Amino acid sequence: MKTEILKILLEATEAVSGEEISKQLDVSRAGVWKHIQALKEDGCIIEAQTNRGYKLHALPDLLKPEYVNLYLPEEELIIWYQETDSTNTQGKMLAKKKKEEFFVVLAEHQSGGKGRLGRAWVSNPGEAIQMSFVVKPLLPPSKAPALNFAIALGVCEAVQEMCSVDVKIKWPNDVVFGAKKLCGILTEMSADMDKVDYLVSGVGVNVNQQSFAGEIEQRAVSLRMIAGDAVDRVKMCAALIKHVKSMYNCYVEGGMEALMPLYMKRSAILNSEITVSCGEERYTGVCTGFGENGELIIKTQNGERSFLAGEVSVRGMKDYV
Ligand code: BTN
Repeated sequence: MKTEILKILLEATEAVSGEEISKQLDVSRAGVWKHIQALKEDGCIIEAQTNRGYKLHALPDLLKPEYVNLYLPEEELIIWYQETDSTNTQGKMLAKKKKEEFFVVLAEHQSGGKGRLGRAWVSNPGEAIQMSFVVKPLLPPSKAPALNFAIALGVCEAVQEMCSVDVKIKWPNDVVFGAKKLCGILTEMSADMDKVDYLVSGVGVNVNQQSFAGEIEQRAVSLRMIAGDAVDRVKMCAALIKHVKSMYNCYVEGGMEALMPLYMKRSAILNSEITVSCGEERYTGVCTGFGENGELIIKTQNGERSFLAGEVSVRGMKDYV
């Protein structure tokens, strides 16, 4: 209901009366008033003009569903936390309770954000976007890693739409601008031998940080640092959901064949000499492509090798993670 009220106020050029809103949405005027008060408490600036009605002046920088859904073509199930340990951890719990094939978990702040390889993922409240996509595709577990491709491609499209910049994907799923990391993705899965139960794909996007400190200073970048201006987190979040969902559907319906041409165009490492680290082992070769289950393929001096997991570093790019 809050999204519907906000849509009416956003579209109007003049103030809209409580009576008009209540008629349009078939809800009591007291109900409209209560929702307006709640929106104001969130930080919406809504002016009540005597004898005229409500005029919306500004929306808050909050990733609650009522604001994010304003910019989505169809309403999505979004579960929002002011603060939680990790949206991935919450996503895994919610996946067991909810029937939806696709939904989103969002947090303004994570107290225990998780990165790949057991690392921590830390960001200050209000600066970044921390979200997890919970999906339940009808796929065998072998097809699940390729879903990372879909998620990373969705992130690239959202960045393109919002900031008109061309970002790339460093296998398996870092989204990078030049040699710096803009977004990390951590996918966790529950499956039996034949079928995926659910996947939780956690996406951390650096949005409005103006600098980074410590060991990531040289290796991380934010949209604000790229675009030169603050980015609307709510619109960015909606763009992420829209594009990730579209790429997810593309993969579920068309398989890797449908995603591969898009992924090849976005790859930061295709045709480059790279080193893949797998535990203690290091393999150097030229990246020649990707397999249908999301494997990385390289041509080494001793022939072709493929990898389902590993860390990639690119020759000549010392800032790379
Ligand atoms: C990486 O190490 O590159 C992956 C980082 C993934 C971070 C995101 S933030 C939202 C979601 N919740 C988590 O705890 N981690 C992921």
